[in-house]
Amino acid sequence: MYDKVLESTQFIKERISLSPKLAIVLGSGLGDIVDFLTEVETVDYADIPNFPKSTVEGHVGRIVVGRFKGMEVLILQGRFHFYEGYTMKEVTYPVFVMKLLGIEKLILTNACGGINESFHPGTIMLIKDFINLMPSNPLIGINDDRFGPRFPDMTEPYSLNLIELAKGVASKNSIPHGEGVYAGFPGPYYETVAEIRMMKGFGADAVGMSTVPETIAANYLGIQVLGLAVITNMATGIQKVKHSHERVLEIAKKASKDLSSLISGVIEEF
Ligand code: HPA
Repeated sequence: MYDKVLESTQFIKERISLSPKLAIVLGSGLGDIVDFLTEVETVDYADIPNFPKSTVEGHVGRIVVGRFKGMEVLILQGRFHFYEGYTMKEVTYPVFVMKLLGIEKLILTNACGGINESFHPGTIMLIKDFINLMPSNPLIGINDDRFGPRFPDMTEPYSLNLIELAKGVASKNSIPHGEGVYAGFPGPYYETVAEIRMMKGFGADAVGMSTVPETIAANYLGIQVLGLAVITNMATGIQKVKHSHERVLEIAKKASKDLSSLISGVIEEF
């Protein structure tokens, strides 16, 4: 896998002139921030050797590199989800490529369901820990020490420094926010009432279908993570209506402005 990742990295390096150390993964409906980049250069996933092939037709899948508030950033527009049928290695392939590109900090964003009843649709939850409920993880298999250790530590999967920094920015800008534990379900169905009841008992504050595999890979690779989970709905049984993907996207789109302000403030602090 190392040589494949290296080949992908080389291909990207030849097509971008900036060398960002910060990367951002944009979740469903959370694409706003790309509009504010300057000196933009893009590379389509489809052109990158060894990159996973997108299963969803018409889905944007590209790497966008540019400057935001003067800082060089790399943005992944379009992520690979486990529920789409990708293996965990494919889901996290871009994170491995980021490592060889020199990325040191990664902001992972997502849309999710709120379990903690102090949250509301639109709240941004700063992720402080995760519970992995997916049936696998990206580190299963033979370990390559060039990437990271066989048994990586997961005491602080989300950087406490970055959480504190983001909390300060959110408070200063009156962005509705909270802090909590993100439970990663495989999806693609929205969880059952009993599953959410169980997760509440287990200490989860929000539930979603992404982010955990990338967090695991990033920690293994020695990349610092900030996780920003946008509550787009309350989880099953907590909200009294059935789920609607359209509604999720609608709330994500509205919250995208707050998310962009938060990320922008965090980048200014860097
Ligand atoms: N559950 C899982 N994933 C989600 C949800 C949810 O309630 N909302 C948005 N993504």
